[in-house]
Amino acid sequence: MKQYELSFDANGANQTQANPDDSSARKTARERHAGLAELINHHNRLYYEKATPEITDREYDTLYRELQDIETRFPELASDSSPTRRVGGKAAAGFKPYRHTKPMLSLDNTYNRDELREFDGRVRKILGTTQFSYVVEPKVDGVAVALHYRNGVLISGGTRGDGATGDDVTANLRTIKSIPQKLKGQALPEILDVRGEIYMTREGFVRINRERQELGLEPFANARNAAAGSLKLLDSSIVAARPLDGVFYGVGEAQGVELTTHAGLLKTFKHLGLKTPARVWQCKDIDAVLNAIDELHELRHGFPFDMDGAVIKVDERMLYDELGYTRKSPRWAIAYKYEPERAETVITAITVQVGRTGVLTPVAEMEPVLLAGSRVSRATLHNAGEIARKDIRVGDHVLIEKAGDVIPAVVEVVKQRRRGKEQIFEMPAHCPVCGGPVTQREGEVAHRCENLQCPAQLKRWLRHFASRQAMDIEGLGDALVEALVDKQLVTDPAGIYTLRKEQLVELERMGGKSAENLLNAIDASRQRELRNVIMALGISQIGVASARVLEEAFASIHELMQAGREDLEKLRDIGPVVAESIVTFFADKTRRGIVERLEQAGVRMQRTYTRAKNLPLDGKTYVLTGTLESMTRDDASEKLRALGATVSGSVSKKTTAVIAGENAGSKLQKAEKHNVPILDEAQLQKLLTSPAADS
Ligand code: IVH
Repeated sequence: MKQYELSFDANGANQTQANPDDSSARKTARERHAGLAELINHHNRLYYEKATPEITDREYDTLYRELQDIETRFPELASDSSPTRRVGGKAAAGFKPYRHTKPMLSLDNTYNRDELREFDGRVRKILGTTQFSYVVEPKVDGVAVALHYRNGVLISGGTRGDGATGDDVTANLRTIKSIPQKLKGQALPEILDVRGEIYMTREGFVRINRERQELGLEPFANARNAAAGSLKLLDSSIVAARPLDGVFYGVGEAQGVELTTHAGLLKTFKHLGLKTPARVWQCKDIDAVLNAIDELHELRHGFPFDMDGAVIKVDERMLYDELGYTRKSPRWAIAYKYEPERAETVITAITVQVGRTGVLTPVAEMEPVLLAGSRVSRATLHNAGEIARKDIRVGDHVLIEKAGDVIPAVVEVVKQRRRGKEQIFEMPAHCPVCGGPVTQREGEVAHRCENLQCPAQLKRWLRHFASRQAMDIEGLGDALVEALVDKQLVTDPAGIYTLRKEQLVELERMGGKSAENLLNAIDASRQRELRNVIMALGISQIGVASARVLEEAFASIHELMQAGREDLEKLRDIGPVVAESIVTFFADKTRRGIVERLEQAGVRMQRTYTRAKNLPLDGKTYVLTGTLESMTRDDASEKLRALGATVSGSVSKKTTAVIAGENAGSKLQKAEKHNVPILDEAQLQKLLTSPAADS
């Protein structure tokens, strides 16, 4: 087995410092580059795929930087398959538009077998023959993407968007291991636009949601949303840690490759190293198609991903032009969707869990039933409002459904089965863990335990505080957190920094050496970046991505603490709810005290870099009004912000322009009054696609 060494031959590294024109230096650099690339790929696999890293982030960064240095000096070594292009290659703010050379269409769909026969009837009528066949494939529930390969090398990739233009998410796609950077084989097509679906496995989805719940973030509703949310992240190093996978089933532009049938296309894809649908049926007629979709239905829980139906395609690709297209979809294919599965059971109790941010979550405990392939006995009821709206009572017979086949949700109460003894649920007035008061803040659906020292809350907070993306304190695991809180050695996160060795060695299974290691890790965490500290504070709704945005906008924790709702809402990805959550967090005296004590303990509270921005719409302010046709106002705002603009709710002299859709209201008059230019939707589109031109 290959041995991976951290330190390569020191001479080799030194020689790469030599004059780049010297050909022997070039040769050494090439060798060192290849070695480093292999080593980094190895550690990437350990880190991202197996979650068992063997080296520290620091050591990894050193290797990575050396590779970058070599590529700066010898740019010809920076190929598209270099690890510098693959993982952690951070996307710039916002996404560039990705233009599809051929329109990227969707499918017509049906839940109905008769409509499938009608589809077949139409195909036969247009073709005037029965001399053709069908292919049936699983319909994976994910996000459609296009990949552009030139001579076998992945050049770029994007989302479908409106079919003509999507988002360029190349950097994110490169982090997905089933997307080859290079296609396999000898005769590689000059151009191949591959189309397929990015999805998250069920297992990955459950993991990611568990992590989000811990962070106080809204869980993703289903694996599809999780995949879509992940692809749209601006930081590809975070995407790399998301369990995404891909499957490819279609083509846009193709040059230098013969694709006469769909089954042949899939075979070619496979040879090229592209993952194709897990099962494919070739069917000579519509009866065979109907059998295939039944078989597929039986198999559906066996797939590790969510599958929401079957896709039926005419196999002979040369018939496609003759069959033609509607505006949105081809006439040679159709999707058949399976009904979501439901089951009936009884709610035996409603329990309440206390989360890290003190949120009380009611959970339905149910008589176990089999649903969509697994045994289900619990379902989150989200909050008291949801329970009241659905009038869910203990003892009720309920219908449950799996949202996107994963998380069971209570859909409705079977009212006919009520016997009158069912009990109405009431949120407890006291925290089930610490007995502290439970309150409901204005405008919030959640009930919270307000006691910051609540052991349930504190334990979760500490685990979060020490977690990798926050303060990264190795050794401060679950068992230790339990002990520290139970023995009252730590009553808030700042208390971690006052722990002494004598206190630690008293604890079970804590020797002198581990105590020292822990104290060293605690000490090292003082140097974490501001974004990690912001993350560690456990402000509800703040995850890695928003912590970064805040770090970009504020140079220190003090600046952030002084920010008002309006300042915050101007930031990318920060809406009113998140802004409110930040303001409320820092309005609390106890929390401010904790921040102060963290600072006194020597934890870094400043940003370590200066703001490098220079986005095309920096310094511009836009106001949106009326209804847009091609996108929602929120989408438009997000896109403008991603380009550096501020989007405001009211028109003033400072407004750069007002963007007016249909039925625009009083803001137009205000714009005229202040002599503010008015842009229509077409001008908005232009602004978004070429912002530098004239804004
Ligand atoms: S063919 C023009 N094949 O389902 C052909 N789509 O509801 C378009 N999908 O837009 C796509 N699995 O995003 C095709 N085996 C498969 C698919 C598939 C999933 C997605 C795709 C499509 C959507 C339609």
